[in-house]
Amino acid sequence: GDGGDGGDEGGSDLIRVGFSQLGAESGWRTANTESVKESLSEDAGFDLTFVDAQQKQENQIKALRDFVAQDVDVIAFSPVIETGWDEVLQEIKDSGIPVVLVDRTVDTTVDDPFVTWIGADFKAEGTTAGEWVAENAPDAKIFELQGTLGSGAQVDREEGFGEVVGEQIIGKASGNFTRAEGKTAVEAALQAYPDMTMIFTHNDDMGLGAIEAIEAAGKVPGKDIQIVSVDGVRDGLQALVDKKFNYVVECNPVFGDQLAELITKVADGEDVPKETIVIDKAFDQTITQADVDARAY
Ligand code: AHR
Repeated sequence: GDGGDGGDEGGSDLIRVGFSQLGAESGWRTANTESVKESLSEDAGFDLTFVDAQQKQENQIKALRDFVAQDVDVIAFSPVIETGWDEVLQEIKDSGIPVVLVDRTVDTTVDDPFVTWIGADFKAEGTTAGEWVAENAPDAKIFELQGTLGSGAQVDREEGFGEVVGEQIIGKASGNFTRAEGKTAVEAALQAYPDMTMIFTHNDDMGLGAIEAIEAAGKVPGKDIQIVSVDGVRDGLQALVDKKFNYVVECNPVFGDQLAELITKVADGEDVPKETIVIDKAFDQTITQADVDARAY
């Protein structure tokens, strides 16, 4: 590394980065991981240790401790939930290794726990979804399919959406951001809330699981039960073209290059902004098949 620590790693100029990814739960996450790995390649000047925590906080904490033991130049991580990091963040802080927070957010008592954060504005995504509903389906009876409970993406999307159309929500349950658990949650919800006419899902994968559950119950997704989603991965946009999804708010996972630039500056001790918000769009059923085919992920 060139982190100015005297360098006992054999003269390599690569920036040594430990990246703890929270899992591989969704198409979004897969695209994000690919983007991170591509941008933090050796050719680009990085020596990356990438560890997938399989949606388990204890695995992430272990990876973070390993990075401290390895004395990497920069620690980057995407926290599966917001709380429970106080101890390990304090340990990292004591080690002097700078932290770059990626995608999801933390809620901690540790002072100044990270140098910089890059990710999407989850609350704004929820608000955008809510505004579409308020305008296009003000009478919809909504079941909210939540992401991993306690994750920044779940907490903030729920808050943003609820502020706009909270009174239309008739039930909520988590599908943990996966297609399989989304399907199971909607199977149960179809029984519990037979009058539902809309699902607001916190990501495309759970929405795709919802389609399976709705069709298995003999109903038509996009018509009998409308689906409003977040992410905009190719499968989600395909569901929009197929008129099974009604509206998709984008959450852009492809920010590896911006992350690489931030990490380089942090390793060099340069100033960086406290936060970098990744810009999102939104799509309705006017999207074309050509748009979907051109989607990179
Ligand atoms: O934190 C971002 C969210 O995590 C994405 O919306 C979801 O697909 C992923 O699992």
